[in-house]
Amino acid sequence: MQGKRVLLIVSGGIAAIKIPETIRRMRERGLNVRCVLTEGGAQFVTPLSLSALSEDKVYSDIFSLTDENEMGHINLSRDADVLMVAPASADIMAKMAAGLAGDLASTVLLATDKPVICAPAMNVRMWEHPATQANVELLKSRGVIMVGPDEGDMACGEYGMGRMAEPDMLVKALEDFFLAAPRPLEGRHAVVTSGPTHEPIDPVRYIANRSSGKQGHAIAAALQKLGCKTTLVTGPTNLKDPVGCDVIRIESARDMLAAVEKALPADIAVCAAAVADWRTSNAPDQKIKKQAGSAPPSLEMVENPDILSTISNAGNKRPSLVVGFAAETDDVIENATSKRERKGCDWIVANDVSPQAGTFAGDDNTVHLITSGSAESWPRMTKTDVANQLASRIAQHFEAAE
Ligand code: C5P
Repeated sequence: MQGKRVLLIVSGGIAAIKIPETIRRMRERGLNVRCVLTEGGAQFVTPLSLSALSEDKVYSDIFSLTDENEMGHINLSRDADVLMVAPASADIMAKMAAGLAGDLASTVLLATDKPVICAPAMNVRMWEHPATQANVELLKSRGVIMVGPDEGDMACGEYGMGRMAEPDMLVKALEDFFLAAPRPLEGRHAVVTSGPTHEPIDPVRYIANRSSGKQGHAIAAALQKLGCKTTLVTGPTNLKDPVGCDVIRIESARDMLAAVEKALPADIAVCAAAVADWRTSNAPDQKIKKQAGSAPPSLEMVENPDILSTISNAGNKRPSLVVGFAAETDDVIENATSKRERKGCDWIVANDVSPQAGTFAGDDNTVHLITSGSAESWPRMTKTDVANQLASRIAQHFEAAE
């Protein structure tokens, strides 16, 4: 962890008295620590002790002219490898969840593009309150890592969950973070499409398909785990949002194209959505009424935009690696190879969707990776494994290009 930089945000709570000791242990492990102290935090620990132990200036005032000149609230977070909020009070986590930026600590947390670790510390009833629990869940779904809290005696005389994790555990959380899987796609941006599209017949009815979104969502999660900023543009699915991705929900193919174009520029595009090929051209604004004795309505279809082709031919907005999917029931490799050329993408992941393969809605997939010079057949594996393998191939592609 030698030389890694931690921005330690100390918010208000009695557990702040453990922070000087925590900084000492972080420094022993070779970490550089810079502190942001909230007004509440300063009731429990002094800027002088944090400064002495971190051997750096302590930042607390968002309106300080000198601090803004020398460092600036944006640079404070850009300069760090990771942000740690310890203790993380109920108040600061509520601010993070809501996106408030009324002081230096919350502003830095809203402005950051770096990973954030929170060490919650509060009274047991505050911890158990549905508001706090909902905020914690929301923060986790955005990729915030939680350490603790622990159970035990509280400074207020009660007993329960809410004690801040001990200094050793905070250092271990940093160790786990830095020694965890490498992040070869850090600094890159990927747009992933997933799920089906819904094409309206009228305001109530729609045409859809059986795509579950499992493969596309797993790819977004796998890219995010490799450090890639990931925008997932998804049609309606029953899946949970993958942790740490920006998720944009759309219904129709045209909405999906608009959302993908808005998300550009990107280095990588993976089009895993099962986009409807056609939509009705005459969807009325009112529900079509069933009238006794009259013939059923006829639906006139027009072609939808092809998102994969559009972004593969997007000139200077084209992501440098565009990956499409091909769902085939026969002659899988041949059909996918010609599809790669027709669509203008770089790679095609061809999957066998014949009924006997059980790909649709199932958890497994059998795929072939078609590139400009090769066709590789992968063994049958889970959609998560396909996603991880594809993400690591994408990372290798960029490493080789550097
Ligand atoms: O033409 P086909 O639907 O077989 O091509 C599959 C690939 O094209 C997938 O990557 C899919 O996401 C993409 N596609 C698209 N927009 C469409 C149709 C397909 O992006 N309208």
